[in-house]
Amino acid sequence: MKLYNLVRSVLFKQDAEWSHDFALNQLARIGSGPMRFLVAQSIPEKPVEILGLRFPNPVGLAAGLDKNGRCIDAFGAMGFGFLEVGTVTPRPQAGNPKPRMFRLTEHEALINRMGFNNDGVDALVKNIKASSYRGILGINIGKNKDTPEAEGVQDYCICMEKVYSLADYITVNISSPNTPGLRAFQHGNVLDELLRTLKAKQHELEIAHKKYVPLFVKIAPDMTKEQVQSFAEAVRTYQIDGVIATNTTIERSAVEGHVHAKEAGGLSGAPVRDASTQVIRWLRESLPKEIPIIGVGGILSAADASDKLAAGASLVQIYTGFIYHGPQLVRDIVENL
Ligand SMILES: Cc1cc2nc3c(=O)[nH]c(=O)nc-3n(C[C@H](O)[C@H](O)[C@H](O)COP(=O)(O)O)c2cc1C
Repeated sequence: MKLYNLVRSVLFKQDAEWSHDFALNQLARIGSGPMRFLVAQSIPEKPVEILGLRFPNPVGLAAGLDKNGRCIDAFGAMGFGFLEVGTVTPRPQAGNPKPRMFRLTEHEALINRMGFNNDGVDALVKNIKASSYRGILGINIGKNKDTPEAEGVQDYCICMEKVYSLADYITVNISSPNTPGLRAFQHGNVLDELLRTLKAKQHELEIAHKKYVPLFVKIAPDMTKEQVQSFAEAVRTYQIDGVIATNTTIERSAVEGHVHAKEAGGLSGAPVRDASTQVIRWLRESLPKEIPIIGVGGILSAADASDKLAAGASLVQIYTGFIYHGPQLVRDIVENL
């Protein structure tokens, strides 16, 4: 899309977070109005059916770009097969001090330590209700930074209750590197307790709403094979419906020497691609085929998406690739499937 090349050349001259906010404000404004044609594109149908849901194509928007669900209509018009909004927390929170988002253009990468800046789950619910999007919507939930770790499970339950009726699936984010202690939920007893509680909550909500909403858990790429295997065992034990692999990495070797390489936070884009694909492969070996994987991390081309699908993902998501290549990337991936 030539328009996107122009937009990008202007936005990339500005601070990364400023550009992000500016673009989202424009998308929120035009998404539901007559100017929506500016971002709209029609994408060929390449349907995928998993967990009783029919995805018109397997390319989704990854969590974190539209945390508050302000641009659902605009992203829907771009032809994504599904959207994931959030991460949202029970109470609004400001996130970390700025600057907290950095472009590593030579590496087609970003580093961020946003820290779940979001308007809170009630604001997200309001925005979803106001949107006219009728495609598949995932809602990604987390815990507030100031909620003690021992009470973190309650934050996930609060969010689950509030979003359940609006979600096609819910993602439990335990892999952001920017909320202290969050990644501890990925292992051992803490993981067991979280999954046991959330599975019980899902059952309770299924009865109350007469609707089954699948639960996905999103994990980090910074895991050993053994850690991935024991995570997968917990997923099987607690009958979690699916896994999203992966979030950003804290590893920096691929960008060593870059002026931003030492910034704290999660690295995304091309440098996380292989680690993320490896985690998908390990998961696929350890999970029965009824438990789908959504592959995300460093998809910047149709070939990258094919690698994720070949590794065992049923669907893919993009974030950093979307920043670098715009909506055209959705079309490229789908057309090349
Ligand atoms: C600026 C930024 C903010 C993000 N925020 C979230 C978030 O709130 N929740 C989440 O689950 N993932 C978040 N992510 C991670 C992405 O969803 C994705 O898993 C990761 O960036 C790897 O994919 P990519 O290489 O296509 O960006 C964020 C990523 C970036 C770059």
